[in-house]
Amino acid sequence: MQNQLMEILQEAKEQLKNAASMDATEELRIRFLGKKGRLTEILRSMGSLNEEDRKALGKQANDVRSEIEKLLEEKFLEMKLVQRAAKFKAEKIDVTEPGTVISLGTKHPITITIEEISRVFMNMGYQIAEGPEVETVFNNFDALNAGPNHPARDFSDTFYISEQILLRTQTSPVQIRTLMQQQPPIKVISPGRCFRCDTPDATHSPMFHQVEGLAVDEGISMADLKGTLSEFAREMFGSKVRTKFRPHHFPFTEPSAEVDVSCFKCGGSGCRVCKGSGWIEILGCGMVHPNVLKIGNVDTERFSGFAFGMGVERIAMLKYEIDDIRLFYENDMRFIQQFK
Ligand code: DAH
Repeated sequence: MQNQLMEILQEAKEQLKNAASMDATEELRIRFLGKKGRLTEILRSMGSLNEEDRKALGKQANDVRSEIEKLLEEKFLEMKLVQRAAKFKAEKIDVTEPGTVISLGTKHPITITIEEISRVFMNMGYQIAEGPEVETVFNNFDALNAGPNHPARDFSDTFYISEQILLRTQTSPVQIRTLMQQQPPIKVISPGRCFRCDTPDATHSPMFHQVEGLAVDEGISMADLKGTLSEFAREMFGSKVRTKFRPHHFPFTEPSAEVDVSCFKCGGSGCRVCKGSGWIEILGCGMVHPNVLKIGNVDTERFSGFAFGMGVERIAMLKYEIDDIRLFYENDMRFIQQFK
């Protein structure tokens, strides 16, 4: 049996030397030290020996066992290092290799313009109000003081969905929704899409954007309207820009006006952008008609307000000197990427 022990040790040494993987090492551990392993076999068969031999052999078997355990431990450690080295090699990355270029998108000029307009008014304490693109005829026309005979209501001008439902032709119905939802003081702007039956050309599109504004409070006068919109024009087009208020007509404001700004390109002397006039029309506005305020049950003896509405495309075209509105909707990356 002594010889057998020596043999086992010898074999374990040799086989461990040749083991080339973690699995192979584990297999050897089971073969030599496992419950059914070679060493266990010998220890089991020791029962037939006398006490003295058993003691001597027992000690020797334990020595062999510790020896093999030590060898296994070393081998496991070695295999672990080999494994790690292989992993590092496999996962090696070349940090000098050029990365994947992710192409970054850009904001659409209409989005940029809406954000800029919104920023100016939000800095003046306005909140953003929202309304749907599919509106009632009532909110889009009647409530805005445009009676049944108003020319804009014509089927040839407006996209009707049914007799009472349409695609809004302006953002002004958000004024009605706001007035019906909240009491003064009110200070809101509302950017959004509008629709009209226009054949597309360089300056017309059946879908376009507006930003509406509404302010209602005690003691609001035309002076507030002029001050607010002049400040907006300076923020938007430059501090040197002057404003001009021209009388106009809108059914939902009285008095009404259109606002021109002195040409921010030539300063007023006349150029291509202002078509030689020195002035550029940018929006419509006025003092909210009492009939409109009454829709929201606003006490017209106590409160008054002003409203305004501007075309986003128009402002973007002026600012960026874009001469064809259709460019906004073609999704041509060569166009969009100029607004980085
Ligand atoms: N809704 C008008 C349009 O589409 C623009 C407008 C003019 C809005 C005057 C207003 C306003 O709120 O007071 O032409």
